[in-house]
Parts: sequence; structure tokens; C-alpha cells
Amino acid sequence: MPFGRPWHRRSCTDTPGRAEAVARIDWCISQYAFGVITGEGGVAKTVAIRAATAALDASRHVTIYLRNPSVGVRGMLHHIVATLGHVTSCYTAALAPQAAEALAALDQRIAVRYAIAGMRPTETGDYITHHLGLAGRTDTLFRADAITLIDNASHGYPRAVNSLAVNALTAAFAKNSTIVDEKAARVAITETGAD
Ligand SMILES: Nc1ncnc2c1ncn2[C@@H]1O[C@H](COP(=O)(O)OP(=O)(O)OP(=O)(O)O)[C@@H](O)[C@H]1O
Ligand SMILES: [Mg+2]
Repeated sequence: MPFGRPWHRRSCTDTPGRAEAVARIDWCISQYAFGVITGEGGVAKTVAIRAATAALDASRHVTIYLRNPSVGVRGMLHHIVATLGHVTSCYTAALAPQAAEALAALDQRIAVRYAIAGMRPTETGDYITHHLGLAGRTDTLFRADAITLIDNASHGYPRAVNSLAVNALTAAFAKNSTIVDEKAARVAITETGAD
């Protein structure tokens, strides 16, 4: 499969957003600084963090990964206040201002803020071509009009590009077509609800 999980660890495309994010995370680590990396769902935040932390010497660095917690708002506030070294109030009404106060202090210490953007149209094209190449396909499989549609519908977010590309491939296969054209891309967009 050219698009999706099996490839992303081993052969992540060095998309510009990911590379820029990794550079900033590296800088934060080397300077012992706080950084905040943001971006839409599927834009590659986790991929960037993994790439940056995978390169660290495990004997010198501890990585703590907190997945999106299902502890609710109260739990989140509690966690923030406690992690920042304060005694948590048992009243929810008091917890919110407590967290806000602790985070204001934290806010001033954030040295780097970076929002990962989606890929630009030419980058989405390069991304698709690169991943097809990894799977062994070097001649044209996606027509330019299909790539344009996929780029528009995905906003250049890699997860959405992957999903649309796979669906477009399947649509072309179902029609016995040897190329992914605009029609196949449209089917993919409708099926994935990306329009
Ligand atoms: N540079 C890349 N090369 C190959 N695949 C990528 C790349 N960046 C992202 N992907 C693909 O996109 C998917 C989504 O990326 P990721 O999980 O990093 O997004 P996220 O920004 O953390 O999303 P969320 O907000 O949902 O946590 C990955 O699982 C991977 O399949
Ligand atoms: Mg993530």
C-alpha cells in the first residue's frame, strides 16, 4: 500500500511542515525550552514529534506522551495544576482560575510556537508521487487533475491525502481503469465525505 500506516514510520516524506516542526522541536530540546506545536487534525503533529523524539539518546532524555485524555474538563484542569506543581483545589469552580493562573505563568515561558500548515498543491503532488515510488510505481498513476482535486479536498493534510488517494485507487480499480483520473478522485471525495 503506498498510502497509510505501514509506510509512515519507515519512510516518512520530509514534507516542509513536518521538517520545520522537527527543527523547532529539536531546538526546544537543545535549549531546554517549552514549545507548542499546533495544526489541524492529520496535519502531521504526531509524526513530527515521533521523528524528533526517535532521534534522542534514551539514556539522556525521558519522553512522556499524554494521549488526548478522556478524563474530562475537571480531570484536565486537575492534571495541569498538579503537573505545574500546585496543590489542586477540590472545588471545580476554583480549579479553572487556578489552572489559568498557572498557565499564564507557563505561557510567558513558551519560547517557540509553530503551526504546521497543510501541504501546498505542488507538495501534495510530490507527496503522492513519492509514496507511489516507495511502493514501486514510478510512471504516472494519478493524473494531474485527480491530484488537484485531492489537494483541494484534503487541504494538503497528509492523513486526508492518504485516505483520498487510497479511495481513488480503489475507485479506479473497480472501473478497471489503469489510471486514477478526475472521476476516480471525485468518487473518493464523495465516499470519504471530504466534499
Ligand atoms: N510526512 C509524512 N509522510 C508520510 N505520511 C505522513 C506524513 N505526515 C503525516 N502522514 C500520515 O498522516 C497521518 C496523520 O499524521 P499525524 O498522526 O501526525 O497527524 P496529527 O496532526 O497528529 O493529527 P491529530 O490532530 O489527529 O492527532 C499519519 O498517520 C501518516 O499516515
Ligand atoms: Mg496526533
